[in-house]
Amino acid sequence: MLPFYLINKFLPLKRKLQSLYLHRAGQIVPHLTPFITKSDRVLDLGCGTGSIIKLIKISTHCQATLVDVQYNAMCDQYPVLIYDGQKLPFDDNVFDLVMSGGSTAFINNIPQAIKEYARVTKPWGFIGDVNFFYHTLPPKKLISDLNNMMNINIQPWDETYWLQQYQKADLEMYYHTIGKTNPASDEQVIEYCRKLIDQKDWNFEVRKVALDRLVEIMNLFNENHRYLSYGVFITRKQMVKHDTLF
Ligand SMILES: C[S@@+](CC[C@H](N)C(=O)[O-])C[C@H]1O[C@@H](n2cnc3c(N)ncnc32)[C@H](O)[C@@H]1O
Repeated sequence: MLPFYLINKFLPLKRKLQSLYLHRAGQIVPHLTPFITKSDRVLDLGCGTGSIIKLIKISTHCQATLVDVQYNAMCDQYPVLIYDGQKLPFDDNVFDLVMSGGSTAFINNIPQAIKEYARVTKPWGFIGDVNFFYHTLPPKKLISDLNNMMNINIQPWDETYWLQQYQKADLEMYYHTIGKTNPASDEQVIEYCRKLIDQKDWNFEVRKVALDRLVEIMNLFNENHRYLSYGVFITRKQMVKHDTLF
């Protein structure tokens, strides 16, 4: 996530982010909605902008619950339950679908978080997760710059890392696909930032400082994209743990 002070200052940036999240949500939601009915309970975990649940609701009219550790100014359509970020405030086996659109990586204890997803999902219910991972090991400095800027603790996880997490939580893989992120050119980054700043009625000095900072942030994200892929992971909670016969 970008720092909130930036998101809220730039309306076009807010719109761009909303459409980015919608795009990401669009990659996974069509795989899940055929199974979801009006009476089904769906949890949007780390809902952020609420883009995931908006899309799911449009086609299913499901019973939606949204949780996060903080409010997001862009999520203004549904009430959000704020929790401690560790133990989900729900009983066991209550949701037909638990959906996390890029939020799992932001949680401190990922193995524990995925176990929590499984705990609140009904037997044979679905868990949908979209996660970024590195197809090529990035420089350590890039990771530490990103973590410092966003005040998070991402690590250079690869695809296997995520697959192992679902396995450890006894989740059965139902659908899995991956794609690459595309970095923009340096010129495109500057052009994009300049357009955003040009819409503000600021004096020269403020515009210069804001442009430099925005380009710095966008370059960091863009550099990260050179090493990143994303994965769509849909798993199911098993009724009983399968024993292997052979
Ligand atoms: C990439 S953003 C949001 C993505 C969201 N699916 C969307 O469409 O806007 C990651 C989200 O994870 C949330 N988050 C961070 N730690 C969390 C935790 N322990 N439990 C749940 N959500 C968490 C953040 O507050 C943030 O809203």
